[in-house]
Amino acid sequence: MSQASQAQLALPGVVPDSAAEWVWTEETGEEADVSDFAHATVMKSEVVAALAPAAGLYVDVTVGGGGHAEAILEAHPASRVIALDRDQTALEAARARLERFGDRVTLVKTPFGRVAEALDALGVESVQGLCADLGVSSPQLDDAARGMSFRREGPIDMRMDPSEGETALELIARLTDDDLANVIYDYGEERRSRRIARSVKRAFADNQLETTLDLRRAIVRAVGPVRVGGVDPATRTFQALRIAVNHELDELESLLAALPRVVAPGGVAAVISFHSLEDRLVKRAFQAKRTWQSLTKKPLVATDEEGAANPRSRSAKLRAARRLEEESP
Ligand SMILES: C[S@@+](CC[C@H](N)C(=O)[O-])C[C@H]1O[C@@H](n2cnc3c(N)ncnc32)[C@H](O)[C@@H]1O
Repeated sequence: MSQASQAQLALPGVVPDSAAEWVWTEETGEEADVSDFAHATVMKSEVVAALAPAAGLYVDVTVGGGGHAEAILEAHPASRVIALDRDQTALEAARARLERFGDRVTLVKTPFGRVAEALDALGVESVQGLCADLGVSSPQLDDAARGMSFRREGPIDMRMDPSEGETALELIARLTDDDLANVIYDYGEERRSRRIARSVKRAFADNQLETTLDLRRAIVRAVGPVRVGGVDPATRTFQALRIAVNHELDELESLLAALPRVVAPGGVAAVISFHSLEDRLVKRAFQAKRTWQSLTKKPLVATDEEGAANPRSRSAKLRAARRLEEESP
């Protein structure tokens, strides 16, 4: 990782025009409501209740537009937050939103799989609480240039950090039909993965795969335009490619492996996931009884009210655990 990308962003910063439109989201095949950031931060009160912020240091590893970080900072006047994101645009939005907290906030551009290294670089040994709100944000989905949406024409990119790594088109080009099908099956849980992979690779070979809409067309050619349960036929394949391009599950595994080192004894980790592949990993990590006391026997879900106001919150699952004071034998 470059020095620049590890760099701490100073506060206060420039307020970008787009700040008010920051909102996180997950793919549910529905249009994003970006009119009110505060309402769209998922399970905010539940995250605050789990972390119970006091005087001390917290880390939000997916700061996005800053909704959870803001809630932690508001919950206790002597709380401080280190806020990570791999997306520079997100950090700019968070910087604007959190500006009023001054030096209680430190923003760092890094993938959260490197959270331990990021804290080391700041001279921080451990934190009292950590929250992670996985997935992508609405601006990432809504910006056609990011290539994450099958509704908007853009390059087939899908990187959360457009400054590094392979684009989705490069991934498609590199993988064999079989390997592409496996990605679509494993990360999209898409039963028709082989047909879709063949069609996508054929479109690529025929020079007919330049934009996200070309990609959607290739998927529709393979499986037909029928919406399954109201969900666009491209939904699962786009999700799978995005997960692969951003190494989302590897990142989550690295984060979960780092938690015992990063969260101080007695501290709490709270993780919101949006699909079963993620939730399974979180559940397994918190089952390590020598290290964690689970605070959520079953994952918490959004209230009906929140679900009605923000459809994306309906797939959210929050798990939280307290780091044991001492590793039990
Ligand atoms: C759902 S949004 C978080 C929204 C935030 N909690 C809020 O209330 O505004 C997820 C954010 O996590 C970031 N992200 C996803 N995976 C990441 C990773 N591996 N490392 C760092 N940031 C990541 C995305 O760039 C995005 O900004």
